[in-house]
Amino acid sequence: MNKCSKNAVLSIDGKTYDLPIITGTEGDKALDISKLLQETGYMTLDTGYKNTGSCTSSITYLDGNKGILRYRGYAIEELAEKCLFIEVAYLLIHGHLPNKTEFDDFKYLLRRFALLHEDMIHFFDHFPPNAQPMSILSVMVNSLCNYYPEMSDDPLENINMTATRLISKIRTIAAFSYKKSLGHPLVYPRPDLNYCGNFLNMMFDKPVYPYDVRPEVVSALNKLLILHADHEQNCSTSTVRLVGSAGVNLYSSISAGINALWGPLHGGANEAVIEMLEMIHADGNNFKKYIDKAKDKSDPFKLSGFGHRVYKTFDPRGQIIQEACDDLLTMLNISDPLLDIARQLEEIALNDDYFIERNLFPNVDFYSGIIYRAIGIPTNMFTVMFALGRLPGWIAQWKEQQEDPRTKIGRPRQVFTGEVSRKFVPLDER
Ligand code: CMC
Repeated sequence: MNKCSKNAVLSIDGKTYDLPIITGTEGDKALDISKLLQETGYMTLDTGYKNTGSCTSSITYLDGNKGILRYRGYAIEELAEKCLFIEVAYLLIHGHLPNKTEFDDFKYLLRRFALLHEDMIHFFDHFPPNAQPMSILSVMVNSLCNYYPEMSDDPLENINMTATRLISKIRTIAAFSYKKSLGHPLVYPRPDLNYCGNFLNMMFDKPVYPYDVRPEVVSALNKLLILHADHEQNCSTSTVRLVGSAGVNLYSSISAGINALWGPLHGGANEAVIEMLEMIHADGNNFKKYIDKAKDKSDPFKLSGFGHRVYKTFDPRGQIIQEACDDLLTMLNISDPLLDIARQLEEIALNDDYFIERNLFPNVDFYSGIIYRAIGIPTNMFTVMFALGRLPGWIAQWKEQQEDPRTKIGRPRQVFTGEVSRKFVPLDER
């Protein structure tokens, strides 16, 4: 980050004020307004933070106009093609790709931490049937701070161990919650399997029907997790940072991020896409009806999996996922009618003026659900899968914030629009 030699000049009520210009390493330009209120009496108003930088960060760079996404300087296309998810997790958290020794140590710790405290396993018994998997995930992750309280005095104490513990345990929690929802016996982690293979085995292995961990399925899952691993200051990451800014421990900050991700406008969109495609299918592929509904401002319906706050040309993750989806379905010889519906819907929308004028095209969630279906993941676990992928990004962002001596508690302002001062009237006089 650099302070530019030029300042921006703001003129209010005939007086001028200098605003420092900050530039990032990729040329992002920002006005530093941190002293604006104090100097001018004015705050800024930006509902939905459409144009507000909340921090400086060196983790993820994205250019929504050019469709660029890079983690720590590496192009998402190259990472998705050549890396293991755990290498990318290490990269995000530590800032560099691991060398052989670092990678072996990381893998060793992931294996060592894979078990869940047996007392925590009883928690699963007390959720009602059909409990929401995202709610279970958030509760379980929050509870980890009671079982592994190694950071109670200093949030950064043992951070690398805690981060590794969390990355390992979250997949055990996710798989156990699925097994419990089926009433099936739990399948414990196996040290001989890699991160994604281990997760799939815990999800799908059964006593009488052993699960065949297929390399093409492991590879598709690995790619999906990498594509979801970070996305700079999105809703859930900003939540993790905001909660963390109050000095809250890593587990509880991440638990808050899980809840933010759950929303259908954010990570919950991957479930909503499948529900929408099923609805269109059940309605005799009546595309026009749903395109018209999406364009109708009096109708709350939107095309799930379309549109993005930041990408204005294409979502590079959406393109990679679409190819991965085609490859996996071909390799597994699966024909999913929802894939055909998705392709047709995409084509209609991409040629419709409403979607063209607003730069609306498929985002990361549009095709990911079809891959999850092919793998056998139930629809209500899709957002849990997103959380598994996003976890390293949340951890990296939380750590970056905690390590930055300039960090202050997050505390936005408001423009008050309520009643002005009123005289109190006692109950018996009202
Ligand atoms: N279907 C129909 N119209 C849409 C859609 C959509 N999916 N998305 C945006 N629009 C319209 C919106 O109504 C508005 O129209 P107008 O200018 O006439 O008022 C215009 O496009 C701009 O949209 P916006 O809601 O102001 O944009 P935003 O940046 O606030 O919202 C979004 C971004 C992703 C929440 C939104 O596009 C959306 O709701 N998409 C569907 C849900 C979805 O797929 N979410 C996953 C996002 S990617 C994964 C992640 O990062 O979480």
